[in-house]
Amino acid sequence: MAVIIRTLTQEDDRSRLRSGNIDLDRFFQRFAGQNQFRHHVGVTYIAVDGASILGFVTVAAASIETSALAAADRRKLPSYPLQVIRIARLAVDQGVQRRGVGHALLRFVFTLSHEMAKSLGCVGVVVDAKAESVDFYARFGFFPLEVEVGRLRDRPEPTAMFLELGAIPRPAKE
Ligand SMILES: CC(C)(COP(=O)(O)OP(=O)(O)OC[C@H]1O[C@@H](n2cnc3c(N)ncnc32)[C@H](O)[C@@H]1OP(=O)(O)O)[C@@H](O)C(=O)NCCC(=O)NCCS
Repeated sequence: MAVIIRTLTQEDDRSRLRSGNIDLDRFFQRFAGQNQFRHHVGVTYIAVDGASILGFVTVAAASIETSALAAADRRKLPSYPLQVIRIARLAVDQGVQRRGVGHALLRFVFTLSHEMAKSLGCVGVVVDAKAESVDFYARFGFFPLEVEVGRLRDRPEPTAMFLELGAIPRPAKE
């Protein structure tokens, strides 16, 4: 696989991705485009191998309350809301799961977080992790926040997880 990650365009065929989670597939087909091109509420990046879309991650700027962080982490930070990148959705096609695509999409988000830190400010990355993907995020150092930031209204409730910028590896080119 020669995986490239790039921004979703209006021309991309979003109908074929099957992640095993119908809600994520439906989001990708029906809402990722309009959210990005019409409403500007998030941007979706896709992992592609030639013409095949292997996976996607949708991100948006968001903020978290300082009080959501563990006491040790919030000690040095101001008490107003802190800017973060929110991973709104992440999914990989079942045919290529467990082959590094999810990790590649996450690394891409990590690079974005450092770029945002430089241009706008960013203290880390948050995600509302579904029960079955909590271990995936924990593997990369994400830990549960102390309060819910979830807005997906999923059942069971997702776990809001956070990875602070200082713990995110810098992109190799820096
Ligand atoms: C969760 C998901 C995004 C992971 O993507 P992926 O491409 O399969 O993951 P990768 O191959 O990049 O895995 C990276 C590492 O995480 C591990 N991993 C992958 N999925 C995992 C899971 N569900 N739980 C724990 N660890 C997991 C891999 O074994 C790998 O570990 P290694 O580097 O030690 O070998 C993908 O399986 C998926 O789309 N699942 C269905 C939808 C979903 O749950 N999305 C998350 C929404 S919050």
